[in-house]
Amino acid sequence: MSLPRVAVLVSGRGSNMDALIKGAAGGYQVSVVVGDRDCPALDRAGQWGIETRLVPWPGKDQRQQFSLDLAQAVTECGADAVACAGFMRILDPVFLQQVAVPVLNIHPSLLPLFKGLYPQRQALDAGVRVSGATVHFVTAELDAGPIIAQASVPVQPDDTEETLAARILIEEHKLYPAAVGMVCTGRVCMNGDQAEWKTDGPG
Ligand code: GRF
Repeated sequence: MSLPRVAVLVSGRGSNMDALIKGAAGGYQVSVVVGDRDCPALDRAGQWGIETRLVPWPGKDQRQQFSLDLAQAVTECGADAVACAGFMRILDPVFLQQVAVPVLNIHPSLLPLFKGLYPQRQALDAGVRVSGATVHFVTAELDAGPIIAQASVPVQPDDTEETLAARILIEEHKLYPAAVGMVCTGRVCMNGDQAEWKTDGPG
């Protein structure tokens, strides 16, 4: 039986995409990488020999068409799940309806704290002593879907945005493949607006 197929959405450097490809022994395969722009992540996916697609962002006034085109690229590849990995577009509800498979995202904060842009800066500004990363199901509300997995890191007194981001990123690269594996092996799914655990829970 073939492994569940994961489509990875990217916009940038692609270190999480890389981690997802390397971590695919955990019960899934990355079958396609889709970008909204030319970016290092697409080049790197090509080097891995993985199919790549480019669905260029056409501007805000064509958001709905973009969502349909993106959904088509994903469904044509027979994806069983979608993983956003540094994908810098807000996914329209039309996309979520069309793909009809779990859609995951990774965010570099302990959600529900510090949603949106510059979460590491937000964490430093708030003076928290612990931050981290969250993998969650994507819903229509930004960074607000049910949480699948989290990892924490200390915030050091002399941290800059860059040093904190680097510390969190190390954890992201372990957390994301594990979380995608949990979804692809049916250990957790989304039921309504909740994460539903099929076994003993995330512990
Ligand atoms: C990561 O910190 C991810 O959590 C956030 O954007 C960054 C993407 O980095 N959503 P990369 O492209 O995966 O290296």
